Amino acid sequence: MTPLSIEGAAQVVRPPEDGLPYLRLDRAAQLRVEPGDVVADGGRIVGFEAAAAGVGVRRIDASGCAIVPGFVDAHTHLPFAGWRADEYAMKVAGRPYEEIARAGGGIAASARAFADAGDEEVLEQAELLAAEMLAHGTTTFEGKSGYGLSEAGELRALALAAELGERVVQTTTSTALLAHAVPPGRDADGWMDAVEALVPQTVATALDIYVESVAFGLEHLERMGAIAAANGRDLRAHVEQFSTMRSVPVALAAGARSVDHLACLHPDDLAPLAAAECAAVLLPAAELLGDERVAPGRALADAGAIGVLATDANPGTSPVVSLPLIVGLAVRRYRWTVREALAAITLNAAWVLRLDGELGSLEVGKRADVVLLDAPIEHVPYRLGHNPVALVVAGGEVVHVRPDQAWRVPA
Ligand code: NIG
Ligand code: FE
Repeated sequence: MTPLSIEGAAQVVRPPEDGLPYLRLDRAAQLRVEPGDVVADGGRIVGFEAAAAGVGVRRIDASGCAIVPGFVDAHTHLPFAGWRADEYAMKVAGRPYEEIARAGGGIAASARAFADAGDEEVLEQAELLAAEMLAHGTTTFEGKSGYGLSEAGELRALALAAELGERVVQTTTSTALLAHAVPPGRDADGWMDAVEALVPQTVATALDIYVESVAFGLEHLERMGAIAAANGRDLRAHVEQFSTMRSVPVALAAGARSVDHLACLHPDDLAPLAAAECAAVLLPAAELLGDERVAPGRALADAGAIGVLATDANPGTSPVVSLPLIVGLAVRRYRWTVREALAAITLNAAWVLRLDGELGSLEVGKRADVVLLDAPIEHVPYRLGHNPVALVVAGGEVVHVRPDQAWRVPA
C-alpha cells in the first residue's frame, strides 16, 4: 500500500487528547482545529507532518481544505427494498405517521416490499446508497434488520446486511432490530418470545426495539434489555419519536448503549441521560420530514451528553444518506456548534458501534479513514445542500475523488 501524505490543509480536526472513547458535547469546544497535514501508511495514520521527500509517497494537495475523520453513520436501516414516496406526500398533506402505519402503510409496507424483492435487488439498492454515502464522506455505517417481520425474514435481513458489508468500501456493523413492528398475525408478547429464541442465531452486535404506541411498549423494552444482557449484545432503542412514553429511564436501567430519536424526550429524563454512559442519537432529518418535534439537542449538549447525529436512512421517516446535510440541520435546529456536530458524526458515533478504538478520530495508530472538505468546517452547515466532500480515504486508500477535485491527487 502506497504511503499517503495529505498536505497543507487549512484545518485538521483532532481530538483534545488521544485515546478518548467519546467526547461529551460540553467538551466539544476543545476539539483541535489547526492547519496541518496527515500521513498514512499501511492503512493507518502514522503522523501529522508531511512525509519527508520519499520515493513512492503519494502526495495529496489539501490546500484550502479541512481534513476531518471519515464520517460514521451509527443509525441507518440499510438494507431495505424500495421507497415510500407516496407516504411522504400524505404526511406533507397532514396525515400522521401513526395513522398511515395503522392503515397498513409504514413499516408493514416496506416489509412487504422486502419480502417481494429478490436478494440481489435488495443488495443492489443498498450498494447504490452506500456509494452515495461514501461520496458524502461516510466511511463507516451501521445497518439494521427490521423489515423481515418474521423469524425467517429477520434472519434474511441480517444475512443481507452481512453480505452488504462484504461488497462495500465502508466498515459496517449490523444491529438486529427484531422488534420493529408487531408482525402480522402475532401479538407483541408472543413475538418477544420469538425474539428471545432468535437472538442466539444472530451475530449482530446490538439489539434494537421501536418503543411507540404503534409498536412495542416499555415492558418489551425491559425484556429486550434482559435478552441483550443474557446474550452479550448491546441494547439500542428507538424512543420518544412521536410521543412521550418515558422510555429513557427504562433504557438506562437496562444499560442501553444508545437511545435514538428523542424528539419527545420528557424534561425530567434529560439530565439522567446526559450523565449516563449512553449515547443520545439525534436524527434531525427524520424530525424534519416526519413532523416530529425538535429534540432538545442544545440542552443535551450543555448537560454533557454523548451526542450523536445520524441519518436514520430508511424508506419511511428519513430517505436521507448525507451526513453533511444532517450536520446542517442539527446546527440550525439544535443550535449546535460545528465542533459539536463533527464530534457527533465521528468519535461519538464510533463509540456507539464499539469502534472508537479503531476509528472515529485522527490519531496515530487509528485506521486511516480521512475526509477532505473543500472548505473550512464552518461551511458544512452553512452551505446547506452542497456536498463539501472533495476526497475520501478509507483504510489508507483513496476511494473517492469528486471530479472537480481530481487535480489534488497526482496520477
Ligand atoms: O427510525 N421508528 C421506527 N423506525 C424507523 C422508521 C421505519 C419506517 O418508517 O420504515 C425510524 O424512524
Ligand atoms: Fe431508525
